[in-house]
Amino acid sequence: MRVIIKKTYEEMSKEAAKIIKELIERKPNCVLGLATGSTPVGLYKELIRMHREEGLDFSQVITFNLDEYYGLAPDHPQSYRYFMEENLFKGINIKKENTHVPDGTVKLEEVEEYCRKYEEMIKQAGGIDIQVLGIGGDGHIAFNEPGSSLASRTRLVALDEQTIKDNSRFFESEEEVPRFALSMGVGTILEAKEIIFLANGKKKAEVVAKAIEGPVTSQITASALQLHPKVTAILDEEAASQLKRISYYKFVEEAEKKIGRRLY
Ligand code: GLP
Repeated sequence: MRVIIKKTYEEMSKEAAKIIKELIERKPNCVLGLATGSTPVGLYKELIRMHREEGLDFSQVITFNLDEYYGLAPDHPQSYRYFMEENLFKGINIKKENTHVPDGTVKLEEVEEYCRKYEEMIKQAGGIDIQVLGIGGDGHIAFNEPGSSLASRTRLVALDEQTIKDNSRFFESEEEVPRFALSMGVGTILEAKEIIFLANGKKKAEVVAKAIEGPVTSQITASALQLHPKVTAILDEEAASQLKRISYYKFVEEAEKKIGRRLY
């Protein structure tokens, strides 16, 4: 895993946006895997700025989101579809039909088939070129809570107590947080050709160190990223503060600067 440590959240967001911009310029009809949560908001702001000021063109870009609360309609203010519209889609020239967020209103008896089709659509689009990820307080990616199989696919999942607590800040009360979600699996995520893993803030430092430098375990599903050949973790200094191999990451960064290309 390549680890880039930036001083601030803004610098972290800009670095991630730069990688996505390069992809879109190289492959205008690329497929982006997108995440929600507060972490990628700065990245989305920067992409909107690049669209407005630098003409970054999203007209052929296709997107697939990681997850959605089960039971929330797309127009619910806390739904992830609504989040994506507000924080990214309405600020860029992406076609609505090219954006995919799992539908949280699908009937229980149709969930399995719906999830199978979601994966099928990803395949038909050519697979995800870059997947953006954050990390939950309990080490989850998407909504793959501790104990999720590292081979899991898109499915209906139950949220852990900690996730319900963490995410209650976006709802009026903890009771209103949905208990279930539709989520890409760890196995689905690992099929992305490239992954950008973002984390910021002191609160994430311990779990980030476990995910990047600890053992690969289904108890911290983000640790499965160690199995992927092309992950760039972009962290702010606070989130990186409990990593042990900082000198190694800096060495790689310097070496890459010298040779002008990526080593890992
Ligand atoms: C939710 C999402 C995750 C996200 C996590 C972290 O649980 N399902 O995809 O990474 O929140 O959120 P935040 O970025 O707000 O810390």
